[in-house]
Amino acid sequence: MGKHKTPDAMADSIQTIECIKGTTSLMKLQNRLMNPGRLAGIRHLTAGTAHNIKNSLSNIKAVAQFCLDRYEIDEPLRKSLKVIVKNSKKANRTVNVLLNLARPHETALAPGTVNRVVHRAYNLVKPIFLKQGVRLSKRLHRKLPMVLLDEDLLEEAFLNFILNAIDAMPRRGRLSITAYHDPKSAEVVVSFVDSGCGIPNDNLKKIFTPFFTTKKDGTGLGLTLAKHIIELHSGTLQVESKPGYGTEVTVSLPIHIGKRTGR
Ligand SMILES: Nc1ncnc2c1ncn2[C@@H]1O[C@H](COP(=O)(O)OP(=O)(O)OP(=O)(O)O)[C@@H](O)[C@H]1O
Ligand SMILES: [Mg+2]
Repeated sequence: MGKHKTPDAMADSIQTIECIKGTTSLMKLQNRLMNPGRLAGIRHLTAGTAHNIKNSLSNIKAVAQFCLDRYEIDEPLRKSLKVIVKNSKKANRTVNVLLNLARPHETALAPGTVNRVVHRAYNLVKPIFLKQGVRLSKRLHRKLPMVLLDEDLLEEAFLNFILNAIDAMPRRGRLSITAYHDPKSAEVVVSFVDSGCGIPNDNLKKIFTPFFTTKKDGTGLGLTLAKHIIELHSGTLQVESKPGYGTEVTVSLPIHIGKRTGR
């Protein structure tokens, strides 16, 4: 390359420098936006706003339900009131998930076993399994190393994987939950494999996008929250799917060195 730059090349360098300058100020702006104090403020505000919205929603739902229970009303009005009740319940669920997202500082990580969390989540959904004819196989290796976990939060994530699997198998199916120790990566791995409808490739790219849902009553926040929870545990979350065959959700959590569990 010659010593002197052509005007075009100079223009390119200037653009590059401007771009770098732009990037620097963008980074500064990002740093400001991501500043812990500011984030804590936003979380606080989100939590406060979410509580207000929840209260209003409870009132709306209670009034609509009261009218439904108390008065003889025409069918069209009855239908409208039912829509109000249903949608306030749905909005309430969305707000609950947002509240959870706004509460990462309350994480109480302690050494524990993933098997216990799987049992806890499973017990909550057992009736749905039976009702929907979904068979469950649990292969939870004994004496898994402990991981640092917040049982309530992890249960919430596992519950969403299980409920997603159930939703994907409206007419029978099978869900296999496996937990094992991978000594190479020093992780405990929990996988949820269902034989459901699977996720088309185009959708697979969007499943962690907040509010992305293909369900009539879904909030589209379940996997967003679950991913956030797994990240709070310094773990990773992977979803693989084959449309028409099923989906595998894999959670890998770093082991808590030196501890073993008896179960
Ligand atoms: N096991 C699965 N099988 C098939 N599709 C899935 C599975 N898990 C997730 N999906 C797809 O990913 C989308 C997003 O899932 P996510 O859990 O975030 O929200 P949702 O299940 O739609 O709503 P919510 O969790 O509030 O009930 C789902 O709507 C569905 O299309
Ligand atoms: Mg879900």
